Amino acid sequence: MEHTNQRIASIFENIPSDDLPEAVFIFNKNSVDKNFFYVTGLLNGVFENCGVLCCRDGLIYLFTTLLEEEAARSLDGNAEIIVYKDKKERAKGLQKVLSKFRKIGICFNSISYTFYLYLEQTFPDIEWVDVGKAFKISRMIKSTDEIEKIRKAADIASAVADDIPGFFKEGMTELDLAAEIDYRVKKTGAQKAAFSTIAAFGKNTSMPHYCGADVPLRDGNVVLVDFGAEYMGYVSDISRTYFTGKPEKKAFDIFDTVLAAQSRAFELIKAGISADYVEREARNEIDRKELFRGKFIHGLGHSIGLDVHDDGYPDADFKKEFKENMVLTVEPGIYLPGLYGIRIEDDIVVKKDGCEIITTAQKEPITYEIQ
Ligand code: GLY
Ligand code: MN
Ligand code: MN
Repeated sequence: MEHTNQRIASIFENIPSDDLPEAVFIFNKNSVDKNFFYVTGLLNGVFENCGVLCCRDGLIYLFTTLLEEEAARSLDGNAEIIVYKDKKERAKGLQKVLSKFRKIGICFNSISYTFYLYLEQTFPDIEWVDVGKAFKISRMIKSTDEIEKIRKAADIASAVADDIPGFFKEGMTELDLAAEIDYRVKKTGAQKAAFSTIAAFGKNTSMPHYCGADVPLRDGNVVLVDFGAEYMGYVSDISRTYFTGKPEKKAFDIFDTVLAAQSRAFELIKAGISADYVEREARNEIDRKELFRGKFIHGLGHSIGLDVHDDGYPDADFKKEFKENMVLTVEPGIYLPGLYGIRIEDDIVVKKDGCEIITTAQKEPITYEIQ
């Protein structure tokens, strides 16, 4: 409950004072919004068709279906739990609580337009204001507790990544490798994989979001894996590239160039430095080589937390600067369609004077013999 109160206080602190609502409201209508878990800190339950209203004075109303009632009851302290068994009861519960308020904050970027219209029509006397930015700002700067959970998720992913070459077997398919990774992620202490694990062999590695197929591992393959662990709601995100047998020299040149881009970013990142500058410097390591110019086709990284793509990067809301206790990925890559792609991705915590790399799996360009 302690951290719930702190988080709610932080949301209200990040709302401009001329737009301050009496409460903020999250409702999981068409999709489940991680902001719900951010403010409640609940670990169990999916909470579809459930919601939470957090008042400025600290009172919390939790709206839940019967299905999630037991999980909801673990939110103790200053919370009133409203349980419903059907739509009609839900409407009654919302009516009873929401109609006490005149101005309520909602997140325009995560609420569906249909649900927004429902709120507007059902509660014509309430002014609905957008508080999405306040959630984004609070969530991007992590507390000590959040960093510890991400650190654990990063430890799990690192341990699994170090074991991956030991899984390589003649005839193993991309789907086999992804399944093996997911199994190890759970066996090592995660509740689940952070997202759909990518395991790509050979030319399939040139698609950053490749989904895997029945493709067997062969000698001379580039193998790219991208996966993460979810630990107590918080995720890690790591990519490693391995080689089997004897790949061509060009693959090693690409690997070294990607690693140089990542190292340049690590050298520069610290609180207060411009995100654009870091991005430019890292990208230059790749673009100044004629053969690879323009082949780094995505951003340098993203925030991680409750979500894998945790609402952005140090953008205008952060004066485009890295801030202390942001937790981000640094993931340059070079992609050559028809040949292969190489990406190296690590997770970092931004510090006052630098950054701490929290994924520790080895990334030397070693070639592995298939067993
Ligand atoms: N796993 C997706 C990404 O690295 O952003
Ligand atoms: Mn990533
Ligand atoms: Mn990734």
